[in-house]
This record gives sequence, structure tokens and C-alpha cells, in this order.
Amino acid sequence: MIEKLKAIEQEVKVLILNNADETEMFRLKYLSKKGLINDLFEEFKTIPNDQKKEVGKYMNILKQTAQEKLDSAQVKFSTDKQNSSNIIDTSLPGDAQKIGTQHPLVLIEKEIFRIFNTLGFSLAYGPEIEDDWHNFSGLNFPENHPARDMQDTFFIEKDIALRTHTSSVQIRLMEKQSPPLRAIMPGRVYRNEAISARAHCFFHQVEGIYIDKKVSFADLKQTLYYFVKEMFGEEFEVRFRPSYFPFTEPSAEMDISCTICKGKGCNVCKYTGWVEILGCGMIDTNVLQANNINPEEYSGFAFGMGIERITMLKYNIKDLRVFSINDMRFLQQFESE
Ligand code: PHE
Repeated sequence: MIEKLKAIEQEVKVLILNNADETEMFRLKYLSKKGLINDLFEEFKTIPNDQKKEVGKYMNILKQTAQEKLDSAQVKFSTDKQNSSNIIDTSLPGDAQKIGTQHPLVLIEKEIFRIFNTLGFSLAYGPEIEDDWHNFSGLNFPENHPARDMQDTFFIEKDIALRTHTSSVQIRLMEKQSPPLRAIMPGRVYRNEAISARAHCFFHQVEGIYIDKKVSFADLKQTLYYFVKEMFGEEFEVRFRPSYFPFTEPSAEMDISCTICKGKGCNVCKYTGWVEILGCGMIDTNVLQANNINPEEYSGFAFGMGIERITMLKYNIKDLRVFSINDMRFLQQFESE
């Protein structure tokens, strides 16, 4: 038997395996359950006990030789599929990690900060839950006056409501600081409106205020012209229309030529070629007086704009609801930090 084992071992040793198929044939012939080596182990059981030690040694040598040959051939001829699961290829490019993007409203808000910052405006914030004084009375809305219905208000209790505009922060600023004042005040505002492509029950505004000696309507216009040029570029036209707000006199609304159709007429500008972007005016003397600022000495202007509106014009977005439904396909289109 020893001779037979030696012969087989020699045979295994000289065998050359050239590919995966030959390797598999080799495995079946020698090392599978029904293979030659298993058969030899069966035969081994029948030999006299005193020979077992010697024969066993050759059995093991044969098995080891065959197994080593099989192992190295399997590594050599393993398919790509096996390769990737067994071996880490450090030369392959890594899996890209997705980083979050900034919300378009945040991007535009930052741009608004940047523009007004170059004009010396600082930042101020106020609470979203407001009392009647800051949201209405302090801003010269007379009690029971229909102007209070200009904005549909969510009341929390009598005289406490979710702010309907960021103009409330004007009052908070005037209480805390004395002129000269120059600040922008961003934040979320709430109105009890049916949700549609053009309106939402919450949105964002940026309020601006400038109070100093001899501030004029010309200063207001130049400031806002500068803002539009910086935000949208030189090619857009601007116009002021007379308007009414209880806290400004005179009051105006500012339109820019439609950024979507470039003034030709489309459904965003309702075929007028113009879109309203903000309300503004000279701060009413009643508002200054109510906050202990002498209107003989100081004058000022204020403006308030909707961040959603600016963002829609800037990015050509036609439905306001996309800002709050968190659709990743929409959000991923914007820059990250
Ligand atoms: N608060 C006004 C609004 O929400 C906008 C505005 C702000 C108008 C400041 C004039 C001055 O419509």
C-alpha cells in the first residue's frame, strides 16, 4: 500500500493545473467525498493494525500534498466574484459619501445677509410668538382697525399670536437700542392661509430698518436698488408702486421685472412682466414716537421681503410647497457648505 501511496503522491506532485475547470476536476478526482483519497482511507481501515502507523504517515503526506495543490490553484483561478468577496482591492475607488446640502432658503438668506452686511446692516432676531403690541399696536395698527385683517392671524390666546410678519422685530429693536439703527431681521412668520403654489401658512421674511438723522426716501430706494443688482444682476428693472402699511408713510411696494420670462409675460408674473418682491416705506412718525424716538431729530426707512419669493425667482421655482415637503430629489440639487 505504501508503494501505491507514493506513486499517487508523485502523480499529484507533477500534475499541472491550468485553469479553474482543471482545478475542479482535480478536486473531484482526489479530494471529494467520492474521490481517490477518501477511498484510500476506507482501504486504510482494513489493513493490519501494526502497519497502520507507517501507512498512515504516507496517507497524510498524500492528503496534504493534494490539498495544498488544490488550495493554491483555487486562489489562482478563482473568479472575479469570489475575488471581491475574499480579497480587498485597495486600488479600487472608494464609495462616495453623500454630504448634506443646504436648504435653498438658507442659501438665499445667507446671500441677503451678505448683501446688507456690505451696507453696514447688522443682524437681529425676535420671537415667533408675539404679543399684540409688537405685532400690531406698536406698529400703529389701531385697535379694531381693518388693517389688522390684512394678515390672517393665528391667535394662541387673546393678544398673543404667532407673528404675522417680522416687522414685530423692528419694535423690539427700537426698545432695546437708540438710533442710529441699521439692522436686518430674518425669521419665520405665520398666516392663516390656505396652502397653495403661491401661499403657505408659514414662510420666511427678512425685515430691514435704518434710523438715523436725515434718512430719506432716496436712501431707501438706493439701498433696495443695490440689493436687487447684487441679488439678481444688472439686467433687471425695478419699480416702486405706492402702497399702504400702517407703520410706514409714505409706503411702497417694489417690483422687479420678471426673472422667469425677462419681462415678456408668463404665469409667474401673471402676464404683467413684473413681480412684487417687498413692501417698504418711511417709518411712520407714530411708530417712532411710540418708541421714544424723536421724529424731529430722526427719520428712518423699513422694508420687508419674503425669502421664498426671492428664492423662487432666483432658482426658477414655481411652487412654494416644495420648500417644506422635504423631497430629497429637490433638496439635493443645491450646494452644500
Ligand atoms: N410687514 C410687511 C408685510 O409683511 C412688509 C413691510 C415691512 C412693509 C416693512 C413696510 C415696511 O407685508
